[in-house]
Amino acid sequence: MNNEDFALLSRIVHERSGLALKPEKAYLFETRLPPVAQKLGLADLGALIALLRRGGQAAAEVAVTEAMTTNETFFFRDSKPFEQFRRVTLPNLIAARAAKKHLRIWCAAASTGQEPYSLAMILAEERARLAGWRVEIVATDISQEMITRAKDALYSQFEVQRGLPVQYLMRYFTQTGERWRVKDEIRAAVHYRPFNLLEDPTALGSFDVVFCRNVLIYFELATKQRVLERVAGRMPSDGQLFLGASETVVGVSARFEPVPSETGLYRPAAPQRPATVARSSLAGCC
Ligand SMILES: C[S@@+](CC[C@H](N)C(=O)[O-])C[C@H]1O[C@@H](n2cnc3c(N)ncnc32)[C@H](O)[C@@H]1O
Repeated sequence: MNNEDFALLSRIVHERSGLALKPEKAYLFETRLPPVAQKLGLADLGALIALLRRGGQAAAEVAVTEAMTTNETFFFRDSKPFEQFRRVTLPNLIAARAAKKHLRIWCAAASTGQEPYSLAMILAEERARLAGWRVEIVATDISQEMITRAKDALYSQFEVQRGLPVQYLMRYFTQTGERWRVKDEIRAAVHYRPFNLLEDPTALGSFDVVFCRNVLIYFELATKQRVLERVAGRMPSDGQLFLGASETVVGVSARFEPVPSETGLYRPAAPQRPATVARSSLAGCC
């Protein structure tokens, strides 16, 4: 692939998703895009590039962008965030929302569904403490194909062997042939919607808990900042944000701060008081 082809493809993917692809990743276009060309009825990658160069090819651009997403995920990925959700986040919010008995959770890059279903299984385990509560899990992803697979909730033997405790497999899945389907009770707890993190999430409502894991790593700094700014705008002051193991808000966004002694867990930062307000309140009190 020559430099011009790489520049065209990476510009399209960047504009549509925020994913920043470096030139050393050019081989990914070469391996992932020929099947896209075939699906679109084109002879090869060269024909796809020629089509995109003509411009105004929204459907082809979407297909190329979806193909370039990395969808790696597994049940209870990294285990710690799910343990923190159960041990720290859930008890705190159950106490804080005792009057409303309503919680909303957002999985902002849900891929094939293992993350939201892991949360739904934890909520099922905690059903006694959540009796009478309404807990919604909204799971979004830019990729329509991932949303379709997540809704289907059908996993291979390999996928259910990655991170899923065997007792949860027995309790919350049914075997269909060589694959395993998440039971309706867990599936019904998750509401899927396509959503691009470059867009304004206001229409999704507000969320007490946000899992935005292993997607910011693919964005450059300005995009991470914009996404975190908007996520913060959807959360109450006692909300909780979970990022991936190699992601942080530190040095990226002042809208969140780490929860002390809980690695990987963040909360909205208290707003900075303007100096004039601080001075006048001092003057008033002394
Ligand atoms: C590596 S997966 C992470 C899945 C899961 N959160 C986890 O940690 O296991 C990243 C997901 O982010 C999605 N994604 C990439 N760019 C996105 C964007 N601009 N808006 C929403 N989702 C995006 C991809 O389609 C992919 O499914």
